[in-house]
Amino acid sequence: MSISFQTVPSIESGLGKISVLPDVCNRLNIKKPIIVTDQGLLQLGLVEKLEKILEKNNIQTCVYKDVLADPPEHNIFDAVNLFEDFGADGVIGFGGGSSMDVAKAVSYFSINKISISECYGVNKLVNKRSPLIQIPTTAGTGSELTPIAIFTLESEQKMGIVDPLLYADYAILDADLTLGLPADITAYSGIDAMVHAIEAYTTKIKKNPISDSLAKKALSLLGSNLRIAVNEPKNRVARENMLLGSMLAGMAFANAPCAAVHALAYPIGAKFHVPHGLSNSLVLSKVLQFNSLKAENMYCEIAADCLPQLIGKKITIDDFIMGIEELIADLKIPKCLKDVGITSNDIPKLAEDAMKQERLLVNNQRELKLKDAVYIYEAAL
Ligand SMILES: [Fe+2]
Repeated sequence: MSISFQTVPSIESGLGKISVLPDVCNRLNIKKPIIVTDQGLLQLGLVEKLEKILEKNNIQTCVYKDVLADPPEHNIFDAVNLFEDFGADGVIGFGGGSSMDVAKAVSYFSINKISISECYGVNKLVNKRSPLIQIPTTAGTGSELTPIAIFTLESEQKMGIVDPLLYADYAILDADLTLGLPADITAYSGIDAMVHAIEAYTTKIKKNPISDSLAKKALSLLGSNLRIAVNEPKNRVARENMLLGSMLAGMAFANAPCAAVHALAYPIGAKFHVPHGLSNSLVLSKVLQFNSLKAENMYCEIAADCLPQLIGKKITIDDFIMGIEELIADLKIPKCLKDVGITSNDIPKLAEDAMKQERLLVNNQRELKLKDAVYIYEAAL
């Protein structure tokens, strides 16, 4: 069996681990980092906390605080301008997937003056990037461990830059940073992480024993802690397990890529600005049903990891899909496309846009055509 596997070279994980940041900057010879983040974290006071830790160690910072959800390309270039004005020498991504994705691009475009349109796709980057540290504040995207950056174009299409150059130098995971997350964001991002692991385990082309092991461990951590993290936001054990699970899922899908759930979720996020994890959640069970024709055995293999109540039982595909639907219902988040303002009139365009996600669709176990995308969206309505 031929296996290729890559990941971030250094990971620091644990409660209170943010304290190692100055040391990590020193190891990477970063003296003037730009922090790439969003207004929400600024208002929570977390950015100030980060700045203080660095200032105490004589590391000057500047902050790009305007990353938007489903980040547009201008976020990258506004941040690169600030990087240059400040004379920065490294990038710290601080936040959810949007901030970390922008941070990846800033680290690249701060050195390489080329058009971003030449960079979309897989393995399109050349040369090098500025030093990059990623610090997630949600347990979901796993972006700290992936070489993928997703942006929303003016055409409302989501495009990805996927290249090993975008692996960070360091990822620092501190679950204390996630304690203030509201229940809905915890639920959306937790489902996103579970989808990463489910799609990694069932991916068609690059499925391999390393990512399989990571995906199963990720799902057992996420499946047994998601309800707790949503209902008990200050539960540090549950938060730490969620962050670890999300990271392992990120490590898995960086090497065994996502498929149809993400392909169908992206147009929902791009056009209706539905949070990424919720977009996934809205189509998840219908894609599982569609895929079960080809992936039934694989789904049954991970069912008890996702759903601890199935441990020790003889599992059918219906147990798995119904269990996932029950989990989503328990999280008290929108359950169908109508709940987020999508109507049947929107489906043809959503399906058309989903078919453009070829990078993802090639990984789906069951071939998915335009009529199938329409069928799945209609079932999810
Ligand atoms: Fe995702």
